[in-house]
Amino acid sequence: MIILPMPGSEWLDRIARDLHGAAGAVEVHRFPDREARVRITGAVGGEHAVLVACLDRPDDKVLPLLFAAETARDLGAASVGLVAPYLPYLRQDRPFQAGEGVSARLFTGLLSRAVDWLVTVDPHLHRISTLAELFSIPAEAVHAAPLLASWIHRHVEAPLILGPDAESVQWVASIARLVDAPHAIFGKRRSGDRRVEITLPDLAAYAGRRPVLADDIVSSGVTMAAAVRALRAAGWPAPLCLAVHAVFADGAHEALRDAGAAKVVTCNTIPHPSNAIDVQHLLADAVSRRLSRCHARELRA
Ligand code: R5P
Repeated sequence: MIILPMPGSEWLDRIARDLHGAAGAVEVHRFPDREARVRITGAVGGEHAVLVACLDRPDDKVLPLLFAAETARDLGAASVGLVAPYLPYLRQDRPFQAGEGVSARLFTGLLSRAVDWLVTVDPHLHRISTLAELFSIPAEAVHAAPLLASWIHRHVEAPLILGPDAESVQWVASIARLVDAPHAIFGKRRSGDRRVEITLPDLAAYAGRRPVLADDIVSSGVTMAAAVRALRAAGWPAPLCLAVHAVFADGAHEALRDAGAAKVVTCNTIPHPSNAIDVQHLLADAVSRRLSRCHARELRA
């Protein structure tokens, strides 16, 4: 097995150490006109190649990734897998206006044609409920809720786990169960990329607990910031804000702190100063399971 991190994802070559595999690299040269040329370093021939790509801000990263997958095959890789700790484009899972492409299907279709299998962390699945409905290759989601719960368990006394919108209930409910704390979900109405209104449920029964907001993604940050402001306006102490994926558009982290968040904590699925929860072992275990299945198939053949 050889781990091949795309540029910007080099920290994840530690997966190779966990799995006693080799670590290579994918170099991406940009010509003056911004066209990309990829080069794989490391002995790929006959190996199970595992590309690793942090796919936030994906438009510039996806074509080099597709080129790298094809190059690994040209170099004789036995199989080509992908570890994408953050899987982008999933939030548009249906056309919102006539004529729109459904990014979730378009993007996962591209990946299904490029690689043999995929592992990701907490994909944003809402109206589509499983990765199997999107991918035609084996695609496994690993879950960060136990890691978020363990962080809360170590750092927060008497937490109240809060979700800023209905979509967050899947993460919030499992974190709350793991830390044995109550949870509640806010109402959200989004009227634009950066315009949301949040309504609080009745939280009176939980007075005295420490509010912890949890969500899968912070992107523009307006959802989490509006939730923080609503809590503060209702007289609650500054909440902790936890998220799996630190997408953070420009200025979003600062805006969240300005809104009154006590602390912002994320997983390192996307490198960011707020990263405090390491998902490397989760990913390494999933890769190990996937490669064991590849080996079992080879032995049977
Ligand atoms: C909603 O679908 C997600 O769970 C997040 O709440 C949302 O994507 C956050 O987006 P933003 O930070 O842009 O409000």
